[in-house]
Amino acid sequence: MAASDPHEEFDTVLVLDFGAQYAQVIARRVRDAHVYSEIVAPDIPVAELAQRRPAGIILSGGPKSVYSEGAPRVDPALFSLGVPVLGICYGQQLMAQALGGEVARTGAGEFGKTAFRADAGSLLLRDQPAEQTVWMSHNDTVVRAPDGFRVVGSTPGTPVAAFEDPERGLFGVQYHPEVTHTPHGQEVLKAFLGATCARPSWTAYSVIEASVAAVRDQIGAGRAVCGLSGGVDSAVAAALVERAIGERLTCVFVDHGLLRHGEAEQVEEAFGRHSAAHLVTVKAADRFLDKLAGVDDPETKRKIIGTEFVRTFEDAAADAAGDDGHATFLVQGTLYPDVIESGHGTAAVIKSHHNVGGLPQDMTFALVEPLRWLFKDEVRRVGEELGLPEDIVWRQPFPGPGLAVRIIGEVTRERLDLLRAADRIVGEELRRAGLEREIWQAFAVLPAIRSVGVQGDERTYGHPVILRAVTSEDAMTADFARIDWDVLEGIAGRVINEVPGINRMAYDITSKPPGTIEWE
Ligand code: XMP
Repeated sequence: MAASDPHEEFDTVLVLDFGAQYAQVIARRVRDAHVYSEIVAPDIPVAELAQRRPAGIILSGGPKSVYSEGAPRVDPALFSLGVPVLGICYGQQLMAQALGGEVARTGAGEFGKTAFRADAGSLLLRDQPAEQTVWMSHNDTVVRAPDGFRVVGSTPGTPVAAFEDPERGLFGVQYHPEVTHTPHGQEVLKAFLGATCARPSWTAYSVIEASVAAVRDQIGAGRAVCGLSGGVDSAVAAALVERAIGERLTCVFVDHGLLRHGEAEQVEEAFGRHSAAHLVTVKAADRFLDKLAGVDDPETKRKIIGTEFVRTFEDAAADAAGDDGHATFLVQGTLYPDVIESGHGTAAVIKSHHNVGGLPQDMTFALVEPLRWLFKDEVRRVGEELGLPEDIVWRQPFPGPGLAVRIIGEVTRERLDLLRAADRIVGEELRRAGLEREIWQAFAVLPAIRSVGVQGDERTYGHPVILRAVTSEDAMTADFARIDWDVLEGIAGRVINEVPGINRMAYDITSKPPGTIEWE
């Protein structure tokens, strides 16, 4: 765990999460404005909140009605801390209720894009057009603002869609300023941040400085190892630790033979040539593929790969010990969404597939997690600032078990070669179409079926491949990417023409849920 938490060093806005769909998005948008933001549990005691000395507090939306039984409440003492507070949606209603205003079930909820009228004299909405569109998602409505508040915005169905009491630093909006469907939303957040007086010091540069200092503190004169997966998280984590402890870091890259085209070379290039850390590449394809021979059950494949990975990694880490002994620290690329998912900030249990290959129970390493406060887009900005190559920083996520979970049925060298060739073309064509960054992940999948086709007047009985391409914010949910027909045609045409044995391509239009991103 990182030695120091950013809120000790950066002015912080705390987001109380009342179960909002958008709580993470609020924190991300605040950080986009260069103010550090963290998500905390809604029942955090006010004394504890005060102790953390936030520059501002945001009360998020939530799915409940303030009138429903067991709905989360807010302690009115929170509004007397002298800390500016912004209530969003349910948060605004809680604020109204706690301070003597009135929330009603008008029976006229608003959902989606809604016309909004902003008052010219408002601090929160200053310099914004009087008529604009906002994104709404609510049933209950504030019908009377508390004493001392001024109503500064309304919609046809909501008389008090925005209110404020700038002297006390209290603000509320019924709509969602954090989503992109509210075009002037980021201005609302910035106006609130102005009222908090938080210093906008959260930048990639300052994150690097703070993380490097924290890692130095934690590791001291010790040694660390880091498993590289080829993905952006482990690459950035390794680069940060390398800045902190230089050659006392050893990176281990296990080439299990299940990588994409050119992947091993790219990682070796990025870390072998441009980094002071030692890079140990273990060529272990035979070892993995021998163990996978004849296996077609998805979970069994994953377990075999996980076990082989840990064994290979441990051997390599032991070989990499210096004169002053073994590494006692293990660097992990755990991200903030993993931490939040495991339970508001402090929990240590991370989804196992986010640990490279799964960690052994009897592990003696202490964990170093320099990214545990960062969102993925921040990791990428830090990677760029650290000077990592663009094709590492902007690389799409890739699962630890690699192509094995994209081959349905048995994993053989021949099937790997087929999939790798098709997957390479998918990547090239999407890059050419300029879609690489807006698509979260795009890849080919090889199913365990064959199909009939006709090529050059000859009947073929070949292999179909499936194209999977999704958009996502964090991989928890995903939608299939609406790729232009011409781009799809270009991909399919090249794959079928250039990869012998493939005679058909299908496009997967399943969202997550109910599907998952990967096929196994
Ligand atoms: P699913 O398929 O569960 O994937 O929707 C969500 C995200 O996680 C990645 N993924 C993995 N990453 N080890 C990893 O490091 C794994 O075993 C694993 N399985 C899935 C997947 O690529 C997607 O980004």
